[in-house]
Amino acid sequence: METIISPTRPVPVHPGLPFIGNTLEYVRGPLPFLNRLQEQYGQSRAVRIALGGLTTILLLKPEETRYVLQENNRNYGRGRSFAVLRQFLGNGLLTSEGDFWRRQRRLAQPAFHKQKLAILAETMIDEAVAWADRLQQADHKGPVNVTSATIDATLRIVSRTLFGSVLTDGVDNLSNALASLNHLANNTLINPIRLPKWIPTPNQRAFRRATETVDRLIHQIIQTRRASAESHDDLLDMLLRAEDEETSERMSDQQLRDEVVTLFIAGHETTATSLAWTLHLLANHPDVQARAKAEVETVLAERDRPSPEDLRSLTYLMQIIQESLRMYPPAWAMTRLSLGPDQLGDYAIKAGDGILLSPYVLHHDPASWPEPEQFNPDRFLPERVKERHPYAFLPFGGGPRLCIGNQFALMEMQVMLAVLLQRFIIKPTGQPIDAQPLITLRSKQAVTVFLS
Ligand code: HEM
Repeated sequence: METIISPTRPVPVHPGLPFIGNTLEYVRGPLPFLNRLQEQYGQSRAVRIALGGLTTILLLKPEETRYVLQENNRNYGRGRSFAVLRQFLGNGLLTSEGDFWRRQRRLAQPAFHKQKLAILAETMIDEAVAWADRLQQADHKGPVNVTSATIDATLRIVSRTLFGSVLTDGVDNLSNALASLNHLANNTLINPIRLPKWIPTPNQRAFRRATETVDRLIHQIIQTRRASAESHDDLLDMLLRAEDEETSERMSDQQLRDEVVTLFIAGHETTATSLAWTLHLLANHPDVQARAKAEVETVLAERDRPSPEDLRSLTYLMQIIQESLRMYPPAWAMTRLSLGPDQLGDYAIKAGDGILLSPYVLHHDPASWPEPEQFNPDRFLPERVKERHPYAFLPFGGGPRLCIGNQFALMEMQVMLAVLLQRFIIKPTGQPIDAQPLITLRSKQAVTVFLS
């Protein structure tokens, strides 16, 4: 029976210890902690928790999540964790806000339109085939570390789709510098001790050096591009040419730098993580794998590589990717900060309230997903999708700040999996795998599989 509630009751508080609140419980096992909160407070639809000295409201249901991300999104800013990200991404799409963000999004959006993605698909297919060749040439009798193999492939794909169909030395150096900046930023973000930037710890020094290298190389590439009349089918060219419809303005070098770094960082680790999880799931579900392989063989027929047009027909493969993103959403949590007072469902929200939105929590809610720990791609049959709340599944977020690279990522995953399934049978190594929610939802151990 529905409980009757007063219109402005306070959000229930999950009891914790003095000062540290629920931090210990969280650190002991973040994902079981989140699942327990759903179990305990699901009826209330939200719960207030205290982590690292700050309190935040965790939303537990799709309706409230849609309200914050879409219906009243203007009242919710990026939140606390974005301040750290801003240190290395600058003011790019992921971290900027307000009118500045709106303008940048308008400028960048056309680069991700379907026809533009079809051009980038060719690059993805080339890289996926080269990747599979490398895996085939390597001695793959032993286990293959797909955590590093997928990073390797998505790094090459993001570099080529951003900077050019041919990897020149400059681009190669830039990719390496960006990858090390990403690594150092991860170290900074997961370190609970926040030292001021001027303290020269080895991490801070390496961070500064990597930033300088990235800036120098990106500016060189931008200058060369600006000086040349030649056109290139890559994202950088699309961003360079993008012109604001209202003001005819283009991006400055600094804006381009921030967008390029953002796309590079946001565009490879998430996809690689999700691919590694998908390979783990396929290895452990031979029946699903056999169905996917049969689909790939039928669609590709005698051809030795997929074409961009094939992707539309690989529908079961897409269901597998979606089910993998449901179980292991790489962006497992997002933060927001309330800018003014608001009414969120039954709750009164104050200006300054922190909000935690968690795709992981919503994707494991038994009210939307019966037996949530079971891997079952049939959950994404079109008729089943129609029955669910659209915000029950949100691996790419929602509302105006929906991931700009969502179609890019899905296409990339489909291409890479189709090429692998065509060539190999993926088998499990029996090694246990535990999920570890850092910035992305990674696995504690490297994912390994046998390819035969
Ligand atoms: C499986 C892969 C991916 C996942 C799970 C993912 C997830 C997300 C999520 C959840 C957001 C919203 C964050 C928020 O609202 O707080 C986001 C934003 C964003 N993503 Fe992705 N992403 C993926 C791949 C990509 C790729 C391939 C690119 C670029 C090529 C990309 C670029 C971005 C950018 C620029 C934003 C900020 C958009 C804005 O606020 O306007 N992402 N992503």
